[in-house]
Amino acid sequence: MKYSAQKGTGDILPADIYKWQKVEKMYADVCHSFGYEEIRIPTFEQTDLFARGVGDTTDVVTKEMYTFDDKGGRSITLRPEGTAGVVRSYIENGMSSLPSPVRLYYNITAFRYEKMAKGRRREFHQLGLESFGSTGPEIDAEIISVVDVFFKRMGLRNISLHINSIGCPSCRSKYNEILKDYFRPHVSSMCEDCQARFEKNPLRMIDCKIDGEKEVVQSAPRLIDYLCDECKAHFEGLKSNLDAVGIKYEIDPNIVRGLDYYTRTVFEFVSENVGTQGTICGGGRYDGLVENCGGAPTPGIGFAMGIERFLMEAEAQGVEFTKDDNVKVYLVGMSDTANARISQICYQLRLNGIGCERDLMKRSFKSQMKYAGKQNIPYLIVIGDDELSSGKVKCKCMADGSETEVGLEGLTDYCIEHMA
Ligand code: HAM
Repeated sequence: MKYSAQKGTGDILPADIYKWQKVEKMYADVCHSFGYEEIRIPTFEQTDLFARGVGDTTDVVTKEMYTFDDKGGRSITLRPEGTAGVVRSYIENGMSSLPSPVRLYYNITAFRYEKMAKGRRREFHQLGLESFGSTGPEIDAEIISVVDVFFKRMGLRNISLHINSIGCPSCRSKYNEILKDYFRPHVSSMCEDCQARFEKNPLRMIDCKIDGEKEVVQSAPRLIDYLCDECKAHFEGLKSNLDAVGIKYEIDPNIVRGLDYYTRTVFEFVSENVGTQGTICGGGRYDGLVENCGGAPTPGIGFAMGIERFLMEAEAQGVEFTKDDNVKVYLVGMSDTANARISQICYQLRLNGIGCERDLMKRSFKSQMKYAGKQNIPYLIVIGDDELSSGKVKCKCMADGSETEVGLEGLTDYCIEHMA
């Protein structure tokens, strides 16, 4: 029997993991610099949380969730995204009593049973954040600048930011009627999903994966032209806050986002390099979600960015990731007695945080040297009976071939000083 990874999933191998670690570390650093703290949420939740939170007319909920009954007969779903779980945790852990805004970031896997395409996976990774308690447009601009700062610190340039406002329930309900009037003569020729959306949530017809490109959808009235005064002022506030820090954006009335919880601000960072949909990062405000999930009315806003798509973009832009040398020194053993001493030295070095390796394969002197070379280990120390009796070893720097004589007794201190 030959097993392979499931369609839409994959291994992240040691040859690539350093890129992921750099991205994750930088994301955490940037979030910390904005006052965000990490939250870790469970991989699965009760299905109803997503149906209620993400929305039961969305493709994510109706078509893409990994849902199953557990052995206790509960309907369980592998998280298709992080927001609903973070909102559940915010409510369950009484975080509304913390000083506002409550700022949480995360690094999660997410699962969607999607049709395969470039940049689309069934298990993928998201770096995201959620912020609760602040209503003003300043925080909308601030979370956008988290992404902007992250991209810049990673060395990425020219990723387009598209912003839009999809209003509040009040302007949305008026707009829904306008949209229905507009689509009524066309609805019978639209896909089955759109026919259902027409009654339940006509806004979803705008981002239909089947009918979305049709002229009738492209020319439909856009919500941004029907915003109420408060929503208009909020959107103006977002723009002036972005202008103030020099973050460039395009207003894109077509962004409605694929999840139902959004109100007012929605945004996406897009690029042609990451596949059909082109979105590296998407987010927005969700002022009704906490209440909808059983909490007190609380404004919220957040985003998530696919790590796979971020790395595709980074590669397309030629971003260089440098690999750190985890192992600094290789100790070549020339005899059993030398090997016994080497294991003591290695133990001491590791206790002091210096990465080192020694032979565990009974390799000859020559093959140990060859192995260390292949692994690109920057320093090499040979220890045999001569070195044991003289109490002196030579530490070779592989980059320039220079050798330094070091006393065996002081070897750990020497390595800490030169290799940490
Ligand atoms: P989303 O737009 O569904 O939003 O996903 C965010 C990002 O996750 C996308 O821009 C993309 O980079 C990545 N992504 C989504 N689906 C896939 C997939 N099948 N394969 C690879 N990458 C994918 C959300 O998930 C919201 N929870 C974001 C949010 C947080 N809004 C407010 N707070």
